[in-house]
Amino acid sequence: MTLGKEIDGKAFAAKLRGRIADIVPDFTGKTGRKPGLAVVLVGEDPASSVYVRSKGKATVEVGMESLEFKRPATISQEELIELVEELNADDRVDGILVQLPLPKHLDDKAVIATIDPAKDVDGFHVVNAGKLAVGDPTALVPCTPLGCLMLLKGELGDLSGKEAVVVGRSNIVGKPMAQLLLGESCTVTVAHSRTHDLASVVHRADIVVAAVGRPEMVKGSWIKPGATVIDVGINRVPAEEEGKTKIVGDVATAEAISHCAAITPVPGGVGPMTIAVLLRNTLVAAYIRAGFPAPKDI
Ligand code: GUN
Repeated sequence: MTLGKEIDGKAFAAKLRGRIADIVPDFTGKTGRKPGLAVVLVGEDPASSVYVRSKGKATVEVGMESLEFKRPATISQEELIELVEELNADDRVDGILVQLPLPKHLDDKAVIATIDPAKDVDGFHVVNAGKLAVGDPTALVPCTPLGCLMLLKGELGDLSGKEAVVVGRSNIVGKPMAQLLLGESCTVTVAHSRTHDLASVVHRADIVVAAVGRPEMVKGSWIKPGATVIDVGINRVPAEEEGKTKIVGDVATAEAISHCAAITPVPGGVGPMTIAVLLRNTLVAAYIRAGFPAPKDI
C-alpha cells in the first residue's frame, strides 16, 4: 500500500512570507511608509486573542506595520462602525480586518459592509465577492480559500479540466473556493449537508476541498485513488487520553492517506497559509491604493 504525500503548508507559508518580506522594502522605497494592517478585536475570546496576536507578530516579521484596536465586548454597533470609518480614512492603514465572530449584539454584516472594499483584506465585502465571481483581477480574495488554491497549484500545477468537489458552502471558504477553482477551469461541484450520497460525489473528485467544520466527516474510502485532498477543518475533539483534547480536520486523514496522492495535515496544512495570505493581501492592497501595479507572483 502506498501512502499519499503530506502537503507541508507550514513550509509553503514560510516561503510566501519570505517573498512578501523581500517585496516590502520596494513598497517602502516608493511610498516612504510601510504597508499597514489594522486588526480590530472586540471582547476577549481566547481563541480570537491568540489569532490576533499571531497576526500582529507575522505582520511585523515581514516588515509591515501592525495596528491593533482592542475594544470591550460592550462596544455599541455605532461605536464599532465609527472605528471602521476612522480606519477607512487613515492613510497608514492598507488593510482592515475585524476579527470574527463578534459578540451577539453586533451585526457583522453591517460592520463588513462599512469596510472600504480597497482595504478589505479578508475579502468579505460584497464588492470583493462580486469581483471574484465575475473574474475581476482586482478582487481581494478571502485568505483561506486563496491559500488552498496556492497549495493546490503548488502540488498539481495546472488545474484545468480537473474535477473538483468542495464540501461546504460558507461565504468565507466554500463559495469563494468554488469561484477560484472555476477560475482555474476546474469542473466544480459544491456539496453540503443536504447533498445526497456525499460519498459518491466526493469519489468523483480529482481535488477535494473539505470545509464543513465536522470532525473527520469525509471518510478515506470516499477518496478516489490519486486525488489531492485539502482539509480546511479545525475541530477540537476529546483525545484518547482522559481529559485531554486534540485538533482534527474534516477528513479522516489516517484512512484517506492510503487513497490519495497528497493531503494537507491538520494542523500544519491549510492553517499556516491563512495568515501568510492575509499579509499577501495587505501588500497587494497597499500597492493598489498607492497607485502602483500589484507585485506579480505573490
Ligand atoms: N476568525 C477566524 N478566522 C477569521 C478570518 O480569516 N478573518 C476574520 N475576520 N475573522 C476570523
